[in-house]
Amino acid sequence: MKIAVLGTGMVGVAIASRLVECGHDVTMGARDAANEKAQAWVQRTKRSARAGTFRDAATAGEIVFNCTRGTGTLEALQQAGVAALKGKVLIDVSNPLDFSRGVPPTLTVSNTDSLGEQIQRTYSDARVVKTLNTLTAPLMVNPRLLPGDHVNFLSGNDAAAKATAAQILRQFGWKDSELIDLGAIQAARGAEAWLLLWVSVMGALGTPMFNLNLTAAPQD
Ligand SMILES: NC(=O)c1ccc[n+]([C@@H]2O[C@H](COP(=O)([O-])OP(=O)(O)OC[C@H]3O[C@@H](n4cnc5c(N)ncnc54)[C@H](OP(=O)(O)O)[C@@H]3O)[C@@H](O)[C@H]2O)c1
Repeated sequence: MKIAVLGTGMVGVAIASRLVECGHDVTMGARDAANEKAQAWVQRTKRSARAGTFRDAATAGEIVFNCTRGTGTLEALQQAGVAALKGKVLIDVSNPLDFSRGVPPTLTVSNTDSLGEQIQRTYSDARVVKTLNTLTAPLMVNPRLLPGDHVNFLSGNDAAAKATAAQILRQFGWKDSELIDLGAIQAARGAEAWLLLWVSVMGALGTPMFNLNLTAAPQD
């Protein structure tokens, strides 16, 4: 498929590279079409890899990944434009983290709202799926780097969009049993707020290479 990856940071590069490995045609988007990180990624990747502005990428993609900094996400999507996002599955990996006062970060939106919901409200014709935002980038695209099962949450208002996202996640190596559908996009509030604890856990363990596994009582 033709997929857009908006973002040139470690998440954008990890997801774009894995998508190419999985056989997709990927356009990486940035504020500037000549973005050095995007150009370097194209040079390294060669086949099935292109770069352009956020709008170029979103226009080219049948599916769009948002991998932009949370504080710049709405600006980045505005640059992509309503028309380029219309009707598309928009997989939102961003977190609304504000590091302007150092570590630990705060959330720029929380409690009664989330960045995932803000995106869905602003782009009501896009089909937003919040997922992968609770993991460090290498684990997003290669979950088998951790021993044993662990979980990745999905939320979104459109069941078919979540099924499309799950298809890509399976290509990344996620098992169906590890994909936890939390329901509507409102559940992004919790998934984003987990980052406050995630930062502390990373400090305690001294590595970002960890994730949650859930143990539930068997259901009759
Ligand atoms: N790092 C991780 O392992 C991890 C894990 C889970 C979730 N996340 C989330 O994934 C997202 C990407 O994280 P990252 O670490 O890869 O990179 P990042 O440094 O948080 O974001 C880089 C991208 O954000 C864009 N950007 C920054 N400020 C902007 C603004 N004001 N307007 C428009 N675009 C702007 C940049 O555009 P240019 O390319 O034009 O510079 C770049 O493409 C974040 O929301 C982060 O919270 C990260």
